[in-house]
Amino acid sequence: MSEFLLRPSRTCDVDEMSDIEQASFSVPWSRESIRQAVTSDKVYSVCALENGKVVGYGMSLTAADEGEILNVAVSPEYRRRGLGEKILSDMLRMCAERGARAVYLEVRESNAPAASLYVKTGFTVAGRRKNYYKYPTEDAVIMVKLLPGGDDNDNSCD
Ligand SMILES: CC(C)(COP(=O)(O)OP(=O)(O)OC[C@H]1O[C@@H](n2cnc3c(N)ncnc32)[C@H](O)[C@@H]1OP(=O)(O)O)[C@@H](O)C(=O)NCCC(=O)NCCS
Repeated sequence: MSEFLLRPSRTCDVDEMSDIEQASFSVPWSRESIRQAVTSDKVYSVCALENGKVVGYGMSLTAADEGEILNVAVSPEYRRRGLGEKILSDMLRMCAERGARAVYLEVRESNAPAASLYVKTGFTVAGRRKNYYKYPTEDAVIMVKLLPGGDDNDNSCD
């Protein structure tokens, strides 16, 4: 079984990330949007690599005590090997480290693989945005996962 390495994304990863993005979504982020996210201080972007090749990635954001999963995708030929779960867990770890108490995301209501991944990782349905997505038009399901610790500033036990 292959060993996958997870590390923060670099600008040299953008082309491979963009190829995976194009293969994964009907309305993919542009290469420029991916580059901006990878170079942003506010976004945590992580890549999964096999033998130096980018095979998946994720992007998340933390503001105050809320985290958001912006994107997660695995190259089609590398799916169902636990990579999506590994990438998502890493983003949740980073959201917690940056002080998030709850992490939100949006998913197309027809995206059963992603919804199943999120439920397996502890997300629950928090709401819905009507006709949020285009091509095809579809509702977004909003999901949330509460984090137990986060960056806890409670010093009451000190
Ligand atoms: C969603 C996605 C990232 C999952 O990546 P993955 O590496 O295949 O997922 P994993 O192998 O880690 O699977 C973890 C869990 O996700 C669920 N899952 C993943 N693919 C699934 C599928 N095709 N059908 C049903 N459940 C699925 C299962 O619960 C699985 O756990 P299990 O293996 O114990 O059954 C991948 O399918 C993908 O890149 N899809 C296109 C992009 C996308 O939709 N991203 C999400 C946007 S909101």
